[in-house]
Amino acid sequence: MRIWVPLDSAAKALGADAVAEALAREAKARGMDVQIIRNGSRGMVWLEPLVEVDVGEGRVGYGPVTPADVPALLDGRMNSLGPVEDLDWMRRQTRLTFARCGVIDPLDLDDYAALGGLVGLRRAIGLDSAAIVAEVTASGLRGRGGAGFPTGIKWKTVAEARADQKYIVCNADEGDSGTFADRMIMEGDPFTLIEGMAIAGLGVGATRGYVYMRSEYPVAIEVLERAVVIARQRGMLGADVLGSGRAFDMQVRVGAGAYVCGEETSLLNSLEGKRGTVRAKPPLPALEGFLGKPTVVNNVISLATIPVIFERGAQHYADFGLGRSRGTVTLQIAGNVRRGGLFETAFGMSLGEVVNDIGGGTLSGRPVKAVQVGGPLGAYMPVSKFDTAMGYEDFDAAGGLIGHAGLVVFDDSADMLQMARFAMEFCAIESCGKCTPCRIGAVRGVETIDRIAAGDPNAAALLSDLCETMKDGSLCALGGFTPYPVMSALTQFPDDFATLKEAAE
Ligand SMILES: Cc1cc2nc3c(=O)[nH]c(=O)nc-3n(C[C@H](O)[C@H](O)[C@H](O)COP(=O)(O)O)c2cc1C
Ligand code: SF4
Repeated sequence: MRIWVPLDSAAKALGADAVAEALAREAKARGMDVQIIRNGSRGMVWLEPLVEVDVGEGRVGYGPVTPADVPALLDGRMNSLGPVEDLDWMRRQTRLTFARCGVIDPLDLDDYAALGGLVGLRRAIGLDSAAIVAEVTASGLRGRGGAGFPTGIKWKTVAEARADQKYIVCNADEGDSGTFADRMIMEGDPFTLIEGMAIAGLGVGATRGYVYMRSEYPVAIEVLERAVVIARQRGMLGADVLGSGRAFDMQVRVGAGAYVCGEETSLLNSLEGKRGTVRAKPPLPALEGFLGKPTVVNNVISLATIPVIFERGAQHYADFGLGRSRGTVTLQIAGNVRRGGLFETAFGMSLGEVVNDIGGGTLSGRPVKAVQVGGPLGAYMPVSKFDTAMGYEDFDAAGGLIGHAGLVVFDDSADMLQMARFAMEFCAIESCGKCTPCRIGAVRGVETIDRIAAGDPNAAALLSDLCETMKDGSLCALGGFTPYPVMSALTQFPDDFATLKEAAE
């Protein structure tokens, strides 16, 4: 009998290790022949720990499971959720990047290869640099780390740069609130990231890669490091990638924890052992990046999506999506929501559908008030904007941003003045200090919001003015985008800014 229990951090936080231990103990006591496989998560966090049992014609799910449920589960007396693949949450997705996550043993390269793994890399080995870059361009893939910059254009710049050494740097800092897609794929299907980085290396002529991972991800660090060792042993990495005669190898590097170290130039400084402050651009990292050499800096999901593009062809990927937002978006639904988790779908679903239909509305049962999309620098979207389609341009037109596609849901008890204050305070704390509008502006921003709360009639105009200055004058998006949550709170939820003022009058 084969039983899957996730090793994913979210599942572990909800007791998956205790369930796995209880299963092993109980099976041994009963003399049952049970193989326990620690898989990644399927992304249904509200069902974790989600245990799956092989019943011959597919895997049946049970969840959330506690150690006390184990005897009934082994007896076949526990109510199952049915075949996992048939669950509404799974059926409604288009799983391209996450196709194997939760399905395979993350560290079994044969499992990986049996489900389409390595097909993309083998195909890329047969192509020259220009053809690899052209394939990525044709897929329409845009950076999933936040800015949505076309990946093909970035790779082309690095491919055409002349240098004795080039690098692939994977941004696994994942600092945005409500986001966990990077972690989930690194824990559940690490070879897909390794394969994506190897293809990137072949494409631009880079022989070395680094994954810059946040220190708060001990499980992802361990899984990815073990996967790199296996990939090297099996010839997927090293001096002769899959017998191609071309070299690519990589290492995992762990950051010390700072939101700004997710910004690519700050990340490069940190990776070089320097303080994580933002570098002025130009020069672009694509031309002068890690150690001053041409460097591709891409998000985990961007790179982990590369294998499926090469496996199935750019057109297959580009056929999904909306407008200039091609392919799938890996939505991370979090906050005050009934069904939180990872949902991969073609761009184009409306925000309201994601929150109410997929997410099931708030966990508290109270009405939704706002959804912050795109991390701490994303706008608070009111319910009146729920018809906005998940697409880069659509969100931009609605005054928001998709960013890394994390959604944090708030019910009507949220105080938006306090949320605006939090955004400014976050910026003040996380600022690298390099430029004045952010370093000083964010501190003044907190004070100005406190003045609004205290009933100062001039403070709201001052806050708008300050936000304009931060937007126009900041060196990077930390200072430049903090006005999004602040101004969206002020303009979309004016009542929350009026109460104290009225009380003072
Ligand atoms: C303050 C700040 C934090 C960021 N944090 C991250 C992060 O955690 N992960 C990430 O991939 N990109 C982050 N970015 C975006 C990166 O600077 C960069 O655009 C991205 O790594 C490029 O990869 P992509 O094109 O694949 O998205 C951040 C940007 C800023 C301004
Ligand atoms: S905006 Fe803030 S984080 Fe970005 S460079 Fe300026 S001080 Fe540093």
